[in-house]
Amino acid sequence: MKVGGVPYRSIFTTGDGRVVRVIDQTVLPHRFETVPLDSAGDAARAIRDMVVRGAPLIGATAAYGVALAMRADTSDESLEQALALLAATRPTAVNLRWALDAAGVLLRDLPPGERVAAAFDFAAGLCEDDVRTNRNIGASGLRVFEEVAETARAGGELNVMTHCNAGWLATVDWGTATAPMYLAHDQGIRIHVWVRETRPRLQGAGLTAWELGQHGVPHTLVSDSAAGYLLSRGKVDLVIVGTDRTTAGGDVANKVGTYPLALAARDNGVPFYVAAPSPSIDWSIEDGANIPIEERDPDEITRVWGVDDRGIERRVRVVPEGTRAANYAFDVTPRRLVTGLVTEKGVCAADRGALGKMFGR
Ligand code: MRU
Repeated sequence: MKVGGVPYRSIFTTGDGRVVRVIDQTVLPHRFETVPLDSAGDAARAIRDMVVRGAPLIGATAAYGVALAMRADTSDESLEQALALLAATRPTAVNLRWALDAAGVLLRDLPPGERVAAAFDFAAGLCEDDVRTNRNIGASGLRVFEEVAETARAGGELNVMTHCNAGWLATVDWGTATAPMYLAHDQGIRIHVWVRETRPRLQGAGLTAWELGQHGVPHTLVSDSAAGYLLSRGKVDLVIVGTDRTTAGGDVANKVGTYPLALAARDNGVPFYVAAPSPSIDWSIEDGANIPIEERDPDEITRVWGVDDRGIERRVRVVPEGTRAANYAFDVTPRRLVTGLVTEKGVCAADRGALGKMFGR
């Protein structure tokens, strides 16, 4: 997607395809900067510190992390160390394990002399697949948007609500939940997006609002707690969110706050869709209770970062000094609250039978 009119991807290479750069998401929306990843350690730090974030982008960054490790040392030890280092960065997004497992299977079987080229090709291919997948999710989601727009608003504005950032910044390009928004907007469908701020790290306020603004999609920022009010007053036609891990049974782990949003949507008869690319499906887990939920530094709750009225960036504490805080980063929405999963192969019910049929598993 474009930043100031210039096309960008969240992760990209320059030169011979082996110089890796990412957009630094810790300084958006106040600064747009790209930073290099020179080693597997750089890639691991970028994932852990959320310079890059969002399930698909975490997987793509890990794939390049393995390639960078191979560039430094093609031995079996170097490969296993890189896989273990990267796997330990964040626990919830299954795309990380998916990318590392596939890289491991590919590279272990190759002689060391062939590993560098193969690892960079693998990472580049994974990125291209991600872009294609998201475009297809966009096409599937667009059909849902068109149907809902017809029935809910009889040709008027379509009001969509989303949570966190499942946008192009969370993927290589297009985003998952945002892909149908961009396509709808580009096709002249009158769409307006309610963007939930997404406490505590404010991925909605800082990233989704920025992305939609760059593309000219009309949107309004609301506090997370305003969702119930808006849903109850008929101001939302459809909710669509992303996922970090959807089980084979259809339970959905996503940014904390997704579950109460799904409850409020159900109570008000508003369809609740999850944009779920196949690399975010964990076929080894049936029940969402078995998904590991990341707990992050409580400082993310007790402090906020932004710019003051004079344009100076500051990080300030918003609680009494010494307040104990617990920072759960994700929650699980049970399948019964999900109207449909929007995948690259089409839309299906959030259950084992429908998912298995869609993906031949
Ligand atoms: O903690 P984050 O910012 O990595 O969480 C991101 C989300 O929860 C996204 O909704 C999810 O990864 C889907 S991204 C297409």
